[in-house]
Amino acid sequence: MMSRGLLVVGCVLILGAFALLAQRPAKEDEQRPAPVQPAPGPEFPHFVVAPYLQYATRTSITIMWETSIPGTSTVRYGVGLLTKTVEGPKNVTLHEVTLTDLEPDKPHLYQVQTQGEGKGKPLVSPLLTFSPAVGPDQAFSFVLFGDTQKNPAVTKKIATLAWQRRPNFVVHLGDVVDNGPDKREWVDELFAPCRELFGRVPVYPCIGNHEKDHANYYRYFALPAPEYHYSYRYGNAEFFVLDSNKPLGPKSAQYAWLDDKLAKSTAKWKFCYHHHPPYSSDDDDFGDTWKGEPSRMGDTNVRQLAALYEKHNVDMVWNGHVHVYERTWPIRQGKVDHKAGVVYITSGGGGGPLENFSPVPTWFKAQSRSEYHFCYVAIAGDRLSFKAFDHQAMLFDSFDLEKK
Ligand SMILES: [Fe+2]
Ligand SMILES: [Fe+2]
Repeated sequence: MMSRGLLVVGCVLILGAFALLAQRPAKEDEQRPAPVQPAPGPEFPHFVVAPYLQYATRTSITIMWETSIPGTSTVRYGVGLLTKTVEGPKNVTLHEVTLTDLEPDKPHLYQVQTQGEGKGKPLVSPLLTFSPAVGPDQAFSFVLFGDTQKNPAVTKKIATLAWQRRPNFVVHLGDVVDNGPDKREWVDELFAPCRELFGRVPVYPCIGNHEKDHANYYRYFALPAPEYHYSYRYGNAEFFVLDSNKPLGPKSAQYAWLDDKLAKSTAKWKFCYHHHPPYSSDDDDFGDTWKGEPSRMGDTNVRQLAALYEKHNVDMVWNGHVHVYERTWPIRQGKVDHKAGVVYITSGGGGGPLENFSPVPTWFKAQSRSEYHFCYVAIAGDRLSFKAFDHQAMLFDSFDLEKK
């Protein structure tokens, strides 16, 4: 049995040990004060929209970003090192800087910087990369998706999977947001989930109906005038982009523009895209097929362009608007024509609520699926590979084209 004296001595020793421990010098990291992050404020701009890329050519590209307060910007860039600097416009929140002296065929580094009006630290982006457009003899690839409206969680999945395939660029098929005038949707529901993808490869959009032709579309995208229609060369392909919210009949301005541009094109591959589908097996957009109404089977305004697609041997036409995936058989003069028809793809699975197909199959449908998805197209010379993946990266459609 322990004596009372021994118990007291034991307690004193234990208390002493605790006291010594409490007095020992703290480790180095315990002494260091918690890092103080500069709070966004009048002197510390932060990114509202992170840097994203627009309209690459062989020697140029445009970099855009948005900051919380006005500032003056620079872009540093170069091959391997940030050897060059370009000044952007002064005291703006939406920054747009075009680099015009790129080295063709070389991957570039870039970094943007914005200095607010005060004496605070400048805002500096991470080190990012881009590539100029490839030349006509080089292979390249791109992704297609559309209708990234009001569903940033799905849009983030699609953009992440698209980025994992390392495309050269992105084709967006319109309805980039659900409500064009709502700036928050642009910031939180388009650019935020696509930040990683759009910061590395340029996006070439077409305008949908949900943009409502709002100034935000023209502010956030830097495209050749008049912006609602434009074209671009990439590799051995040429792309023609139209606004299918506007009239597209034979007497329309866009019809004349497209006829002229296609006639003059020397590209091996010709692709056209716009938001509305010339051919669609949708259930209720073009007549309520569940009630037995005859469907128009697509948008009759934009279908007027089919005459030009057939006249100029366009290889493929892409659209969004219907929130599904659909691929038609090659079509010419209103019939399936395997030798000289045009393939139409609907890819509207970027996040908007999924839609359904008519209970009655259409005469032109080759593949269809109502699921969130994106498409991946790879081109090398006279070969084209087309694949469609769902939001879990499962391949569900694939076909190849070959030029004779
Ligand atoms: Fe849509
Ligand atoms: Fe739409």
